[in-house]
Amino acid sequence: MARMKTPVTLCVTSGKGGVGKTSIAVNLAFALVQKGQRVLVVDGDLGLANVDVLLRLSVQRTICDVLDSGADPLESVIYLEESLGILPASSGVPEMVTLGPEEQAQLGEVLTSIMSHFDYVLVDTAAGIGPSVLWFNRFVDHNIILLSPDPTSFTDAYALIKILSRDYDRDYFYVVFNLVSSEREGRQSYKILEGVVNKFLDVDIEYLGAIPQDKVIHKAVREQLPFVQQAPQSNAARAVFDLADRIRMLKEKQD
Ligand SMILES: Nc1ncnc2c1ncn2[C@@H]1O[C@H](COP(=O)(O)OP(=O)(O)O)[C@@H](O)[C@H]1O
Ligand SMILES: [Mg+2]
Repeated sequence: MARMKTPVTLCVTSGKGGVGKTSIAVNLAFALVQKGQRVLVVDGDLGLANVDVLLRLSVQRTICDVLDSGADPLESVIYLEESLGILPASSGVPEMVTLGPEEQAQLGEVLTSIMSHFDYVLVDTAAGIGPSVLWFNRFVDHNIILLSPDPTSFTDAYALIKILSRDYDRDYFYVVFNLVSSEREGRQSYKILEGVVNKFLDVDIEYLGAIPQDKVIHKAVREQLPFVQQAPQSNAARAVFDLADRIRMLKEKQD
């Protein structure tokens, strides 16, 4: 009998809001699907969901409903394409953000029960360092820290890495810079982060690339469409396709 494949699980996380987590996570999913992978996007912003808005989805049942009612989680997954599932979250449900131990265990079971249908599970996390953000970061195999070259984004990303390493035994982080003006700015910003992390923390970080500031993203958000489909030749889309290639290498390492 064929062995059940375990998917690669990743989360896109940052500490700070507004750095592009949702936009990049969603478009990365489309890019991976275009490369023949089966992908589940989990909206991990449990209290202020955005993935459904970004894709103009009509949501019937959210993660919260599954946890409340014990409904079949697979029925909550919205398939945009045969290989692309979205597990939506709720908006305006504060108790979901606190995510107590019981809900955490339940959420783990729910995700584990549907994961085997996919090659990749990509979690878009909330801003901040609340319980759900920390939980998703612990749940996944790989943490992608997404940040911009802004100093405030740096300090928030650094704080998140510090907490995850100190309190949750995470010791390896992938880093993606968003909103850069050039590839060079991405690499330079990474060097600065790497210097600080190596000096003060006992973790390893690895650069996965940079996404340029690009007006196609803004337009795509407004029109609620993925920019990798709307403007596949744009600089931002090309950078996301490159990122997808690098992420596929993680899977090759894991298999
Ligand atoms: N590379 C980029 N170029 C231009 N605008 C971007 C880029 N990345 C994100 N944005 C814009 O930033 C805003 C916040 O993005 P979002 O994905 O919602 O961030 P987060 O999920 O981290 O809060 C969106 O309006 C989006 O249009
Ligand atoms: Mg978001």
